[in-house]
Amino acid sequence: MEIFHISAECYPVAKVGGLADVVGALPKYQNNAGHLTRVVIPCYDTKFKKENDFECVHWGTVKLGRFNFSFSVLKETTNKLGFELYLIEIPELFDRKNVYGYEDDIERFLSFQIASLDWIIGRDGMPDVINCHDHHTGLIPFMMLYCNKYQKLQNTPSMITIHNGLYQGQFGFDKLHYLPVFNLAHVNVLEWDNCINSLAVGIKCAWAVTTVSPNYLNEINFSANGLETLFNLVRYKSRGILNGIDTEVWDPEKDKMLEKNYSVTNFEVGKQQNKEILCTLFNLDPSKPLFSFIGRLLEEKGGDLLPHATALAMSENYEQINILILGSGNPEIENQLNSLLPDYKGNYNTFIGYNEELAHLIYAGADYLLMPSRVEPCGLNQMYSLRYGTIPIVRRTGGLKDTVIDFGDDGNGICHDQASVGDICYSIQRGINLYKDKEKLNKIRKKGMLTDHSWERVCQEYIEVYNLIIKKV
Ligand code: GLC
Repeated sequence: MEIFHISAECYPVAKVGGLADVVGALPKYQNNAGHLTRVVIPCYDTKFKKENDFECVHWGTVKLGRFNFSFSVLKETTNKLGFELYLIEIPELFDRKNVYGYEDDIERFLSFQIASLDWIIGRDGMPDVINCHDHHTGLIPFMMLYCNKYQKLQNTPSMITIHNGLYQGQFGFDKLHYLPVFNLAHVNVLEWDNCINSLAVGIKCAWAVTTVSPNYLNEINFSANGLETLFNLVRYKSRGILNGIDTEVWDPEKDKMLEKNYSVTNFEVGKQQNKEILCTLFNLDPSKPLFSFIGRLLEEKGGDLLPHATALAMSENYEQINILILGSGNPEIENQLNSLLPDYKGNYNTFIGYNEELAHLIYAGADYLLMPSRVEPCGLNQMYSLRYGTIPIVRRTGGLKDTVIDFGDDGNGICHDQASVGDICYSIQRGINLYKDKEKLNKIRKKGMLTDHSWERVCQEYIEVYNLIIKKV
């Protein structure tokens, strides 16, 4: 089967969050399973772009209202990521350091979607399926169905995978003329809540909709930032498929970013050695339990609860625990976290930023990983931490509920229900107590390490859904 994944992110080319990890791994496993998989993302000014070789396979011009943007399609020449990688180069719009956050994001991602389809229809033969990811590619299923110039793609099945329904890519009808010509009888398909809502359009027009965990699919039927009724309407074509993790990249036995590699047979020693180096780097005490947080410091992830929870946990258990936070996001949260540093020197530290290597070391060296998310469509960090023998402490929501079961119910982690400082601190307290019972602690760690969250198994579920929609042609 020939599969196209179209996305804004793909690890290690361009990463902001978990979307990149999924788009950097799932296609590789689909390829390994015998399919021909291609990944298409915009060409940002990234390290990967500078350090690798590309050949230009197509070029053209995108017209967006009165603007014209030239574009080229660059193919990475060696397929080193395990699939064919194509970058859509539109210098005026994407030759920038960041993936998102610009005033012209609507123009940027609309041009990217149009350029991708222009290139795809210009090739010989049509793909078997086009898998779009999140709102940045949500207009593609619409354009494939209704834009005159993409008529050739009318019978090509499209699927949209929702990694995060909070962000929807809305814009006003004053930009309607940016879209390539289409039959205006279908204009209402673009509308949701009086604007053009890219995610809603993708959900309406794609032949299948997937979310990144089964529980998230249940939740969005009653909580989806305004799209609840739409999700109810498309339930018949929706499926929740739990993300996998790239077990080649995330393998404590082979991970080059660790101080010491370890496996399920010697994790106690291995984890302690990684913890020691981590504690030296951050001036912490390796004899105490290490609670960590890795991720974006946003409300959505419960980041706003961390400063208060840290202060409370520290003052209640003074000198009994370490807390280490790695992440960036809301500057106010960053400042609040940093302002606590002088009070808890030797027990608490932060690294404000994004650092993949440090993240690996923390998964290996920490004892617990905090994920107090308000919204978590799947969450990958809890799966990485399980694989590295670090016990996740999660709020029961989205994919966290699908993957972490409280150790009180014979599970692999610590769970709480509310996104509150009190619930986080209560869980930290349970973590402190558990840490004293080494036998129990190690049993739970081992259980986590043995859980199979590999894409090898999961990627088959994607193929099943593709097969269902291909049969409809
Ligand atoms: C988004 C979601 C996260 C999910 C990831 C990959 O970042 O917030 O929960 O794991 O996408 O699907």
